[in-house]
Order: sequence, then C-alpha cells, then structure tokens
Amino acid sequence: MSGLFDDADPNLLVGPETADDAGVYRIREDCALVETTDIITPLVNDPYQFGAIAATNALSDVFAMGGQPVTAMNLVFYPPCDIPAEVLQEVLAGGNAKIREAGACLVGGHTVEDDEIKYGLAVTGVVHPGRIIRNSTARPGDILILTKPVGTGIVSTGIKAEMVTEATVAEACCWMTTLNKAAAGIMTGCDVHACTDVTGFGLVGHASEMARGSGVTLVLDLAAVPIVSGVAELIGDGLVPGGCYRNRAFYSRLLLDARVCRDEESKTFHADDLLPLYDPQTSGGLLISLAAESAEIFLRLAGEQGCFAVPIGEVVADRGHAVEIR
Ligand code: CO
Ligand code: CO
Ligand code: CO
Repeated sequence: MSGLFDDADPNLLVGPETADDAGVYRIREDCALVETTDIITPLVNDPYQFGAIAATNALSDVFAMGGQPVTAMNLVFYPPCDIPAEVLQEVLAGGNAKIREAGACLVGGHTVEDDEIKYGLAVTGVVHPGRIIRNSTARPGDILILTKPVGTGIVSTGIKAEMVTEATVAEACCWMTTLNKAAAGIMTGCDVHACTDVTGFGLVGHASEMARGSGVTLVLDLAAVPIVSGVAELIGDGLVPGGCYRNRAFYSRLLLDARVCRDEESKTFHADDLLPLYDPQTSGGLLISLAAESAEIFLRLAGEQGCFAVPIGEVVADRGHAVEIR
C-alpha cells in the first residue's frame, strides 16, 4: 500500500506502515497533528450510551499516541425512516458529552443515509513531535501495563443474544465509556517507551503488533490480565463473537503458550482460557510498555488518581514468537 501514501514527505512522522493508532503530521517544529477516525455499529441498546462509546473509542487513538484531542467531527450513517430523530439526538448527545470531557471541541460533521445506524468521529489532536508515543518502540526489560479489563466484545455478543446480566452490561458500558484521557495524562508524565490501545485485534493482536514493530517478545501473565466479570460464563454459553475466533486463527501463529510446554499431561487449562485475550475490544484500554522504575511511578500515580492500571507482563528480547503466555 505504500505507493498510495506520500512516504517521501518528511513531515509525515507516523504513517500507515507501522499499524499505529493514528497518523501524525508535523505542521511546526514544536507541533504535530494526530489524526484518526473510527465508526462503529451499536453494541448496546441505549442510544446515549452507544454515542458515548463510539466517541470514547474514536478519541482513544489520539490518547494512545500521547496526543491531546482538539477537534472532532461527527460521522453519522443512519436510516431516517427507521430511526426517529430523537434517537439520533441521543446518540449525538452521548458523543458530544465525551468530546467535551476529552477537552476537545465538536466542529462539524456529516450525515449519510444508510440501512443501519453507524456513528463515530474524525478526530484531530496535537502532540509535540518529540513526545509521540509509538506502538513499535517497546524495549526488553519493560513492564507492560493495561488500563482496562478485556472481554467487552464477548459481552456485546451476550447483549445481542439477550443472555447477559444487567450487572455485566453496566460494567462493560462503564469501561467502554471511560476515556483513556486519565491514563494518557499519567503516561505523558512518565518515560513511556511504547503504547497502543486495545481494540479490534484484541489484546494478543495489538500486543503482537507492538512486538513485531519493536523486534521483541511480549510475555503476558494470563492470571494477571483483568477480565470483565461474567465473561467466563458467556464463553461457557458459546457467546463468543466471530471476530474473536478470527483473531485467534490469525494471531495464534505468533503466540507461544508456555503453559502447554510446562503442563502437558495435567490438562488443568483449556485453550478457551485465552479467548478473552483474542476478544475484539471496542474502546479498550491502553497497553503501555515502560521501564520498571517508570512502571512503579505510573502505578502509583494511577492509584492516586483512581485510574485503573495493572501490570500484565513484561518485554523480553525476541524469542522467535511475538507473544508468550505464561
Ligand atoms: Co488504536
Ligand atoms: Co482506530
Ligand atoms: Co501509539
């Protein structure tokens, strides 16, 4: 695809080739634009919540680059005959609340007639060119921190099947409408080596991209990975999105499950244990790679600010696979 993009432009600081979260383009020596867009279909029934989730999700890629969102534009696809104007207003109200909470300003948008409602944002942020946080610069010895539990894709599948408890829906909604702003704010005060947000490729997928881009192996402690409550029951009921299996089919080739080597006879674990780690996330948390001393500072600041953050593993020199589960 590189022929499609102007890779000769010296001001293009982050282009499409490293599968990073957003594009970054320098407009002045001390300022670069961070540009991204994301549009999703509803994954909860409440229109306000859907709008809030879609906006939180779209804003996240700017935070994942270490940037600050400045402006946003609504992108709306919807069937005017099937969806009352009040419902659309609720979606936009949910989105606008998150744009403002992010410290950004809604400057416009565009609406297209479509068979099914879809909503998202095009977001522009700013970052100092020297403070861009890429997904391809993790270093051996780093600690990995995750700032939201995984499993929201599985919960959305449960919602569609009407087979999920209200408590689980509320918990998943709460995470999906939590901006990555607080975590990103803490990140800019620490010496962070790499970051990405966990979205459609799932934790293992985004960890693999970070590993491949950085030329390292990411070791994840399965027991340390936080999972939305109720997800194990949903997996037991077979409520797993197709995207989760597609992620597993693709990314399991890059993964070594060290538990299998260690524990071959006693079948105390099951391959399905890993499904939450392959689950496609909407508006997932940040996966942050930073030196141990910085991780200590990050976790302390996160604790003080009430920002969820847990260490889930470490970075080691390349072991011939992108991700290792232990
Ligand atoms: Co992203
Ligand atoms: Co995105
Ligand atoms: Co990044």
